[in-house]
Amino acid sequence: MERKRVFSGIQPTGTVHIGNYFGAIKQWIALQDDYDALYCIVDLHAITVPQKPSALRQNIINMAKWYIAAGIDPQKSTIFVQSDIPAHSELAWILNTIARMGDMEKMTQFKDKSGDGRERASVALFDYPVLMAADILLYDTHIVPVGDDQVQHVELTRTLARRYNKRFGETFIVPRTLLSHGARIMGLDNPHKKMSKSAVSVYNYIALTDNAETIRKKIKKAVTDSGSEIVYSDDKPALKNLLTLYHLATGTSFAELEARYAQSSYGEFKRDLAEALIDHIVPIQERFSAISDEEVHDILTRGAARARAYANEKMRAVRALCGLGHV
Ligand code: TYM
Repeated sequence: MERKRVFSGIQPTGTVHIGNYFGAIKQWIALQDDYDALYCIVDLHAITVPQKPSALRQNIINMAKWYIAAGIDPQKSTIFVQSDIPAHSELAWILNTIARMGDMEKMTQFKDKSGDGRERASVALFDYPVLMAADILLYDTHIVPVGDDQVQHVELTRTLARRYNKRFGETFIVPRTLLSHGARIMGLDNPHKKMSKSAVSVYNYIALTDNAETIRKKIKKAVTDSGSEIVYSDDKPALKNLLTLYHLATGTSFAELEARYAQSSYGEFKRDLAEALIDHIVPIQERFSAISDEEVHDILTRGAARARAYANEKMRAVRALCGLGHV
């Protein structure tokens, strides 16, 4: 039986933080054994806000290295760059014709990202969820492992797939979201807002590039809740987040962590958490440094060839169904 397909992606925009890692990449690793996995570096999404071209190029290479260093195996998974496959843009355009203004105006991430600067935001930033739908639908994806902030976009993808199928005939698989335990890692400086690469303060996140000293400093500075008990509870959003990180880094259950730290101070707990994160992240950093740019280019070239073959075939069917072209 043919394996079901998984598709996901990250924007190559500089900082990769532990929210991206625990929310997305870590669950991708587990899926690559049982699914036909495509993991994309979504550079066309990155340019919805201005990027410095030379930095973007380097960030694409580095993102591929993070995927591999974290445990995405290029022998098992297809790793590729979105813009290497023009079909993503073409399908986005076709889906634009069935996406409605009403669908798009509901997207909360556009509102968050554009903020007060709505009038100056690019049309591409507004249209970004349709490009994401194209990424997913182009490959007949069944499962989309993402963090919580992308759920609304996958819902839109489902709506567009159903609408297209209804209008033109069965074409796209209606995909579903897969969320991990780490689907919503909160900012270390504010546990009410998600950890984000666009955060103003570097104390919001732990980047995969942070060294041990920086990780210790950031965890030490992380905000905590009032009281002194170390418990996993909705009333204690800061501790809930820190315990989640501890659990994700070590696999230790919340009950076990609560028992272990029942008599401890926040200081002791945070010291151990910092070491647990360091033990988890440093080996990834070491693998990152050992991968050469040449190796990455080869992997991305092979990935693009595989993705292109599938995408081109799908686009032939899509164009024919909507009556585009002349042959
Ligand atoms: P991006 O690049 O903003 O984020 C990449 C992945 O990291 C997850 N994430 C988080 N998870 C938990 N806690 C956080 N604080 C946190 N911050 C980010 C995101 O949910 C995401 O899974 N539009 C997407 C990229 C994309 C895509 C796709 C994803 C483009 N096409 C197709 C899946 C399928 C984005 O901007 O993610």
